[in-house]
Amino acid sequence: MTQPATRRAVLTTGAGALALGCVGCGSSGTGGGSSAPASPSGKAASPAPSGTATASPSGKQASPAGRELARTADIPEGGGKIFPSEKVVVTQPKKGEFKAFSAICTHEGCTVSKVMNGTIDCPCHGSRFHIADGSVAQGPAARPLPPKSIKVEENSVRLV
Ligand code: FES
Repeated sequence: MTQPATRRAVLTTGAGALALGCVGCGSSGTGGGSSAPASPSGKAASPAPSGTATASPSGKQASPAGRELARTADIPEGGGKIFPSEKVVVTQPKKGEFKAFSAICTHEGCTVSKVMNGTIDCPCHGSRFHIADGSVAQGPAARPLPPKSIKVEENSVRLV
């Protein structure tokens, strides 16, 4: 007869200990408040506007839209010009229509070396790409030259 009473006592004591534990948790949770992440902080929400991108609408940057690559007059109509340091080729397939592509050949990574007869040519293995869309005109390259973003404003071709 003493054993069930002892069990009850143990269970009661255990429940009491649990209750105390919960009370302890509740009080420390209420009084602590050290890491309450629920409040929407009003001012510290901007992640990192350090000004690396130029497309910010804040309008504080001096450059209008990227760096000038060339004047439009520098890009021959029906041809193009390669900018090796920027790894970009700018073409003008039709009068007033400017396109830009990566100057890195998609075959094995050589830099294209000339633009003539409507194609952008790689010197390494003879691949050629159409100036209008960068698509492959002649292999061994199998993929087109990836397009690059440019903006043409006031006779200036800018890389954006
Ligand atoms: Fe251009 Fe091979 S790297 S054709």
